[in-house]
Amino acid sequence: MKQLAPSILSADFSRLGKDVADIEAGGAHFVHVDVMDGHFVPNISFGAAVMKSLEGKTKLPFDVHLMIEEPDRYLEEFVTPQTEYITVHQEACVHLHRTVQHIRDTGVKAGVSINPATPLNTLESILPDVDLVLIMSVNPGFGGQKLIPSALDKIRRLAEYRDRAGLAFAIEIDGGVTLDNIRMVADAGTDIIVAGSAVFGAEKIRGRVREMIKEMEK
Ligand code: DX5
Ligand code: ZN
Repeated sequence: MKQLAPSILSADFSRLGKDVADIEAGGAHFVHVDVMDGHFVPNISFGAAVMKSLEGKTKLPFDVHLMIEEPDRYLEEFVTPQTEYITVHQEACVHLHRTVQHIRDTGVKAGVSINPATPLNTLESILPDVDLVLIMSVNPGFGGQKLIPSALDKIRRLAEYRDRAGLAFAIEIDGGVTLDNIRMVADAGTDIIVAGSAVFGAEKIRGRVREMIKEMEK
């Protein structure tokens, strides 16, 4: 089953609870939580307090995407009963295996992400130990950018590798997904699709979530 993870980076923070209630009513599967530190990426978003303000207000699980340096220092702050995945960047972790283990030790599923310029083969040794691989289809830092097509090729190759190796991690894509390209993105073999501006920029958020899910399931 394909799943949609709207990114609250593009939500209206002055009415975050309402925006999240809308994605839930539309059938979204996760709340994607984009955490940016102004060092790993050239933007600052929000920290764990904002995510935790949603605890109990929505039933959707949290899909946490840490675009931060030294994630080990902060990741426990993001562990809540609603946290399903915590994903860190390969480029931000010197001891990636240790960090993945750290996430799993908290009882949460561990994800690793790579930027558009990072080759897929840099993940080979960690794949047996992760629950999710997040392929960035934009350079992280901002919502509303255009999808970089080479990400789809990475997803196809990763899905093939996973099958051949008998592994079971989920494949996620993040960046530039719209109503027009979501079908193509799903067809490449993506399991979880992040969308920020395409969801929260819509006039009717709930309706847009429904449309996108319908399109990706076709
Ligand atoms: C990019 C973030 C994304 C972003 C996606 O730095 O990790 O999750 O919010 O936004 P859209 O869907 O607008 O590209
Ligand atoms: Zn993200």
